[in-house]
Amino acid sequence: MKNILVTGGAGFIGSAFARYMTESYPDYNIIVLDKLTYAGNVDNLLPISDEPNYRFERGDIADRSAVVKALQAHDIDTVVNFAAESHVDRSILDADAFIHTDVVGVYIILDEAKKHGVGRFLHVSTDEVYGDVEEGFSVETDSFAPNSPYAASKAGGELMVRSYHVTHGMNTVITRGSNTFGEYQYPEKLLPFFITEALDDHLLPLYGDGMQVRDWLYVQDHVTGIDVALHKGVSGEAYNIAGEDSRYNIDVAKRMLDLLGKPESLLKHVPDREGHDRRYAMNCDKLRALGWERAYSFDSAIKLTVDWYRNSEWWWRKIKTGEYLEYYKRQYAARLAAAE
Ligand code: NAD
Ligand code: DAU
Repeated sequence: MKNILVTGGAGFIGSAFARYMTESYPDYNIIVLDKLTYAGNVDNLLPISDEPNYRFERGDIADRSAVVKALQAHDIDTVVNFAAESHVDRSILDADAFIHTDVVGVYIILDEAKKHGVGRFLHVSTDEVYGDVEEGFSVETDSFAPNSPYAASKAGGELMVRSYHVTHGMNTVITRGSNTFGEYQYPEKLLPFFITEALDDHLLPLYGDGMQVRDWLYVQDHVTGIDVALHKGVSGEAYNIAGEDSRYNIDVAKRMLDLLGKPESLLKHVPDREGHDRRYAMNCDKLRALGWERAYSFDSAIKLTVDWYRNSEWWWRKIKTGEYLEYYKRQYAARLAAAE
C-alpha cells in the first residue's frame, strides 16, 4: 500500500480520513478524487493542503476517463471509496444523483480499479442497508432491508463490490458506519443543522415525535475504524463501525441546546420524514476483534463538535447561502408551516 485514492475525500468523513491518513502515514501518498458536489468542500482539506504526500484531483467516479486518469497519473494501488450522495431527505425529493454515484459510480470505479490491478478496494457503506432494527443489533451477515432511496442505492453499491470480489477475485473490504458527527459536516444533517440554526435562534424542525433512535459515532472513531479495516480486514468481508451509544433524537437535540445555552423552546415537532426508520443499532465485535477501539465518548465528542461550530462560522456561514437556502425551503417551509 503506497498510493491511496480517497474518493469523496472533500466531504465530511472522507476529508477527516484524508487529514488523518496524510498525517499518520507520511510514507503513503493520499490522492483525493472528488466531484465537488454541493457537499464537497476544499476548505475541509485546508489543514493538509501543503503536505507533500497529499494531492487533490477534481473528478466524478462515474466518469471512466476521469477515473482512469487519476488511477494512472498517481499509480494507485489502493482505493477507499467515500464518494456518495449521502442525505436521506434529498433522496426522497429526487433519487437520480443517488443512482448515478452510489450505484453506477461504484460500478465504474470498481471496474477501472480491477483493470488497473488495484490491490485493495475499501468501500464505505452504512448501517442503513440493514433497515429498521426494532430490537437487538445488526451483525454483518444480516440480510439487507433498505427503506429509503439513499439506503437502497448504498445497498446496490455494496452488492456490486461483493460481486467483483466473488467473480473477479478483487481484494475488497466493506465498512458499515453508524450515524457519524463531528467537525466539517455539511449543515443539512441533524447535528450541524440544529447547532448552526440554534446559534441564530431559529426553530429546529424535529421530525415526528423525535423518538427515533440513532447510534452516534464520532468522526475520528469512524476514521480509525476504516484504517483498521483497510489494513487488517479480510478480503471479501464487511465490518460494522458503531458508536454503541444509542440515543433518541430529541435527547440529542436537548443535549446540544444545553451545551449552547439555548432554550428547548427552539424545538418544533414537524411532520415526519417519509419512510422514516425508527431505529438503527449494530454490533461491532468483528472490527473490535481486529484491534479497533473507540477513543471518544458521546459526551466528550458532542462538546468538541458544538465548540467547533461555535468557533467556525467562517466555514459554515458561506455554505448556508444559495443552493442551501433553496433546499431549506423545499425541505422545511411546508413542514414548519404545518406545525404552526
Ligand atoms: P458527504 O455528503 O459529506 O460527502 C460526500 C463527498 O462525495 C462530497 O465531497 C462529494 O463532493 C463527493 N461526491 C459525490 N458524488 C461524487 C461523484 N460522483 N464522484 C466523486 N465525488 C463525489 O458524505 P459523508 O457524510 O462524508 O459520507 C461519506 C461516506 O460515508 C458515504 O459513502 C456515506 O454513505 C457513508 N456514511 C456516512 C455516514 C454519516 O453519518 N455521515 C455514516 C455511515 C456511512
Ligand atoms: O446511519 C448512518 C447514516 O446516518 C448515513 O448513512 C447517512 O449518510 C447520514 O446522513 C445519516 O442518516 P440519517 O438519516 O440518520 O441522518 P440525519 O442527520 O439526516 O438524521 C438523523 C435523525 O434526525 C433522523 O432520525 C432524522 C432526524 N432529523 C433529521 C433532520 C435533518 C430531524 O428530526 N430533523 C431534521 O431536520
